[in-house]
Amino acid sequence: MILLDGRKTSNDIKDEITREVQEMKDKGERVPHLAAVLVGNDGASLTYVGSKVKACERVGFESTLIQLPHTVSEVELLDTIDELNKNEEIDGFIIQLPLPKQINSQKVLMAVDPKKDVDGFHPTNFGKMALDMSTFIPATPFGILTLLERYKVETQGKHTVVIGRSHIVGRPMSILMGRKGFPGNSTVTLTHSYTKNMKEITRDADIIITALGVPGFLKADMVKDGVVIIDVGITRVPDESRARGYYITGDVDFENVSKKAGYITPVPGGVGPMTIAMLLKNTLLAREQAK
Ligand code: GUN
Repeated sequence: MILLDGRKTSNDIKDEITREVQEMKDKGERVPHLAAVLVGNDGASLTYVGSKVKACERVGFESTLIQLPHTVSEVELLDTIDELNKNEEIDGFIIQLPLPKQINSQKVLMAVDPKKDVDGFHPTNFGKMALDMSTFIPATPFGILTLLERYKVETQGKHTVVIGRSHIVGRPMSILMGRKGFPGNSTVTLTHSYTKNMKEITRDADIIITALGVPGFLKADMVKDGVVIIDVGITRVPDESRARGYYITGDVDFENVSKKAGYITPVPGGVGPMTIAMLLKNTLLAREQAK
């Protein structure tokens, strides 16, 4: 079994980006600038956004964090987006999800200028991705592709089973794994809560990408020997014995599934760190395209 080490790979990518930023500085160019909009004070979202800002510092990017109260109106949020769209100092920005109930997330994501949409959530960018056009690929799927690429995991002709059809992970992953090229050329099955015979489908899979948020969902009797496992689940399980009051776990029964797997991502330290590295990569791309 080979561990797909997202921590190491993301550090390699951050080092590569740091070198590119240094070259920009040496040439007297403005460095990339990422902004993040955080609405409310959900613990997990605060942690994610904090990690994104810290990652910017690490590679030498400028960053701006805009915090809005959970009571913010849709109009106020749309005004903030309008300002970010117009601000020439900002190369890319993200609206951390989920958003409070009074806000229509679709409307908000559609207000982001596609040229600054480093999350790749705007329909224009999502459509370009589906059509094999060059664009921002959402950070988590981009991170998974990069892990498969750097570890040279064969995907051509393989049966890839994606579990979960979220707009952020499952849906884009199902498109990307079936695209022409590497990683890609897979035969893809997209499964969800209405899928019948889940076990039969996963037992036939060469590659399983699970993004459910259900701890321990994927068990050893659901996979075949040599399977490639990408665990995108990140669930906080309350645990008073830990200083933080919780621990993080994925969708996979790692202890038992890892004994059968050819490759597997750990949680934490797998897909999570890759997501942040790829957001930086998209921001660098946005900066280069803005030149
Ligand atoms: N919430 C969970 N994942 C993501 C992500 O990749 N981007 C944003 N903006 N919000 C998220």
